[in-house]
Order: sequence, then C-alpha cells, then structure tokens
Amino acid sequence: MALMRIAHSFSELRTLLPSSRTHRSWLVPTMGALHEGHGSLIDRARSEGDFVAVSIFVNPLQFGPGEDLDRYPRTLESDLAFLERRGTDLVFLPTAGEIVPRDGRITVSSGPVGKLFCGRSRPGHFDGVLTIVLKLFHLFTPEGAVFGEKDRQQLFLIQSMVRDLDLPIRVVGHPTVRESDGLALSSRNRYLTSEERSRAALFPAILDHAARLWKDLARDPFQNRLEVCDTISRRLSEEGFVVDYVAIADRETFLPISGPAIPDEAFLLAAVHLGKTRLIDNRELSTGV
Ligand code: PAJ
Repeated sequence: MALMRIAHSFSELRTLLPSSRTHRSWLVPTMGALHEGHGSLIDRARSEGDFVAVSIFVNPLQFGPGEDLDRYPRTLESDLAFLERRGTDLVFLPTAGEIVPRDGRITVSSGPVGKLFCGRSRPGHFDGVLTIVLKLFHLFTPEGAVFGEKDRQQLFLIQSMVRDLDLPIRVVGHPTVRESDGLALSSRNRYLTSEERSRAALFPAILDHAARLWKDLARDPFQNRLEVCDTISRRLSEEGFVVDYVAIADRETFLPISGPAIPDEAFLLAAVHLGKTRLIDNRELSTGV
C-alpha cells in the first residue's frame, strides 16, 4: 500500500497533489470523527478514480450560534489510522486561519432551497457548507467528489452549485450506511446516552413506515398522500422525539410539495431532537413497487 501523505497547508497540498494528466483524483470532504459511512464514501471514491484525497475540517462557517461547534467530536489520531487502513492517498487538515475566508464577506449563497428544511432551523448553514466545499474544489481540482445521501439537502445543493457555476467536477451521491437497527451512522450519534441510543432506532423505523404509507395511500384516489407528514410527526412526538421538521420535497427542485398535484416519487426529509442530539434522515418515496 502506498504511503498516506498529510498536508496541513495550501502549499503542502500543492506539492502532494498529483497532476490531473497522470491521475484521476477524487475527493471526500469530511469533518472527521470518521465512521463506516465516511469509509463507504472513500471506497466509492477509490472505485471511481485512482487517487483518493480526504479533507478533515470542522467548518465553523456551517455552525450557528449555540450549536455544537465547540463540542463537535475531534478524534484526529483514530481518524488518521482509519484513513490509512482504508488506503487513502492524501489527507488534508487545513487550519481555520488558512481556509476560512478572511473577513467572511464573500460567501456562496445557497439560494431559496438553502433556506428550507435544515436551512430554516440552521440559518446560514448551507451557505457555510457551500463556501467551504467550493474552496476545497478549487484547491484540489479533483475529477470528482463523493457525498452521502444521508445529507440529502446538502447533496442537492452541492450538485446545484456545480451545475449552476459550471464547475468541471463530477459529484456523486452515495447511499446511507446504517447500524444494524437502522439508525444512520453519524458523528453526532456519540452524543446519545444509552437510553437515547436505543430509542433512536425508532426514527428510521417510523420513516420506513412513512415510505410504506406513501405507497398504500396511492391506491386510494381520495386520500391525500401529504397527510403522511402529519401522521409521521405525531408518531415521532409520541415516541419522545422533538420534531424539527418532517417534509416532502420534489426530487427535481427540492421545493416542498404542497399539492394539489402530487408526484409519485419524492423525498421524505426529517430532522428530530433526542435530548441534546439532532438527528436527520430521509427516504426516497415512490408509489411503485
Ligand atoms: P460530515 O458530517 O463529516 O460528513 C462527510 C460526508 O459523509 C458527507 O458527504 C455526509 O453526507 C457523509 N455521511 C455522513 N454520514 C453518513 C452515512 N451514515 N452514510 C453515508 N455517508 C455519510 O457533511 C459534512 O461533514 C460537511 O458538511 C462537509 C461536506 C464536509 C462540509 O464541511
């Protein structure tokens, strides 16, 4: 296995990145506290290209006041061992001083979709995500980058940015990796107490139920399939989750579907709080088999 190289600055990065004439480089941006979900993105990047770079940076621009920036898990030593085992070629560990825009006045706007769903509860979050991802794209100029479908809105916005700004980068989404009880892996799951961790499995189970309900309701022309949101919100509250939002978004525009026309396929998006932890997840809804 080739040696894993580590870059701490832009200048180190420039010397360690291979030329695009000889290599097809793929990038996996992360905030560290790595788990198998990140690992699956790295494997995907490896299958798409022949040089895999991973960035680890807890991006302050995407955290709002009072959010968990200070207590976000930082596990650099085990992350590096994880990346080495996974066969990563290059790790980028930028300092905030170098990568965060100096006065923060020029940022990427995530547009109307950036203000919905997670963007409504976390104002400025997606502008912060896109600003850092755009910088990483410029610094690495990779052939492609992999992002998780777990963060469906983030993936949609990054794909939109690449399309709208004509960035010459392929962005691919990769399926969510889950625990055996269905809970999506997340760096934030380690905040859960053991009682909360057991209860957390109800979140994906209730979303699975919603996806079945979407199919069943489609058989009855007089049923409003959008009622799924209320039904699911109620179930989640009954089980002790504090619901941030449950919504159904159009697959093409990512705007909320409010009727009267309801497409057969859509995204179900949900965010809940369990104690001090915020969990998000989503499902692809389809009325077909
Ligand atoms: P982070 O939360 O570390 O996630 C890094 C990548 O891993 C994202 O693309 C995310 O969707 C993906 N991911 C997380 N959990 C996953 C799971 N269970 N299965 C599959 N993929 C999963 O998302 C961010 O960091 C940041 O916003 C970032 C894009 C790095 C910008 O700062």
